[in-house]
Amino acid sequence: MNAPILKIANLAKYFGANKVLKDINLEVNKGDVISIIGPSGSGKSTFLRCLDLLETPTRGTLSFNEEIYFNINACKDDFVDYQEFNKALEFYNNELIRTEDEVAIWSNKLIEHKLEVHKIKEEKNNYSVEEFNAKNNELKSLKNDYLANLKLAKKEYKDIRKTPILKRDFYDENAYKQAIFDNPSIIVNSKTINHIRSKVVMVFQSFNLFNNMNVLENCIIAQTKVLKVPYNEAKEKAIKHLTSVNMQDRMNYKISELSGGQKQRVAIARALCMDPEIILFDEPTSALDPEMVGEVLEVMKNLAKTGLTMIVVTHEMGFAKDVSKKVIFMENGYIVEQGKPEDIFNNPQEERTRSFLKRYIGN
Ligand SMILES: Nc1ncnc2c1ncn2[C@@H]1O[C@H](COP(=O)(O)OP(=O)(O)OP(=O)(O)O)[C@@H](O)[C@H]1O
Ligand SMILES: [Mg+2]
Repeated sequence: MNAPILKIANLAKYFGANKVLKDINLEVNKGDVISIIGPSGSGKSTFLRCLDLLETPTRGTLSFNEEIYFNINACKDDFVDYQEFNKALEFYNNELIRTEDEVAIWSNKLIEHKLEVHKIKEEKNNYSVEEFNAKNNELKSLKNDYLANLKLAKKEYKDIRKTPILKRDFYDENAYKQAIFDNPSIIVNSKTINHIRSKVVMVFQSFNLFNNMNVLENCIIAQTKVLKVPYNEAKEKAIKHLTSVNMQDRMNYKISELSGGQKQRVAIARALCMDPEIILFDEPTSALDPEMVGEVLEVMKNLAKTGLTMIVVTHEMGFAKDVSKKVIFMENGYIVEQGKPEDIFNNPQEERTRSFLKRYIGN
C-alpha cells in the first residue's frame, strides 16, 4: 500500500484554556473521500483549518506526501500545572472577597460608632457626669480598636491585590525547553504555507469569492498569482473547470449576480484550477437554500468519482452515507469513531456516536 498523502499525528489546538482539538490522529490515502460528522462546536472546522494552516496548531505533526510541513512537539500550555493554578486562583479569589468584606465590616462599625457618639451627646442630660465620662471613654477606646482593625484589613486587601496569581508561576519553563530540545519543532515559512494551500485547497461554507471580480477572473487569479501559470493557460483551465461544474454560461457574471448554489460551484471550480491533491470542504451546502443543495452535492459526487481526495465536514448524512468511503465522528476535540459509512450508520460501536446519530436522523 502506498504511503498516506496526508498524515496527522497528535494534533492539538487550544484557544487559551479552551482545548478545541485534543489529540487527533489520522492518515488520509489518495482517493479517500472522508466525511466528518459531529455536533456543533466539536472542532470540525478548526480541524480542517489546521490542515491548511489557516489556524496554527498548538501541537502536532502534519505531513503531506511524507514531507513534514508542520511540527510542534511541545506547547507551553502542556507545561502549566492547571490543577495547581486553578486551585491557587480559587483561593486567591476567595481571599480577595474575604478581605474586601473585612474592610466593609470595620468601615460600617465606625459609622455605627459615630451614630452612637451622637446619641450619647444628645442624651447627655440623662446621665450623671461620672456615667457620661465612663461612656465617653469606652466609646473612645472602641473607636481606636475599630480604626486599628480597619487599617489592618485595608493593608491585607491591598497586599493581596498587589500579588495576583499568574499562570506563568505554575509553568515549568525548563521542562518545556527540554522537550523542545529533545524534539525540535519545524517552523513553517510562507512558501511552505502557500505550497500546502495550493495542494490542499479549502472550499468554504461562505464561498470566500472575490466579489469585485467576475466568475472567470475568480478562477484565474490564484493560478497566475500563486502558481505563476501564464494567463492564457490559466484562462483555459478556468473555462474547463467552470464547464465541469456547469457554469460555462455564467463566466462573465459578477459574483453578486449568482445564486448561492452557483457561487459554491464557482468556488469548487476555483479550487480545481489549483490542480489540488486534496480538497477540504467545510459544510459546503449549509449556507444554501434547500433547492440549491442538490446541484452542489451532485458536483461533489462527480468529483468523488474522479478519484480526487476529499475531506468533507458535512451535516448531509445522505452524502456521508452514499458518497464517502470513510466517515469520521468527532466530538469534544477527539475522533470518537471512524469507519466505513455502512458500519458507522448501521452499527456504530461507540455510545456517543449512537446517540448523536439518533438525535440527528432518528431511529
Ligand atoms: N478563532 C477562535 N477563537 C476562539 N475560539 C474559537 C475560534 N474558532 C473556534 N473556536 C472555538 O472552538 C470550538 C470549536 O469550533 P469549530 O468551529 O471548530 O466547531 P465545529 O465543529 O465546526 O462546529 P459547527 O458544526 O457549529 O460548525 C468552539 O467552542 C469555538 O467557540
Ligand atoms: Mg464548523
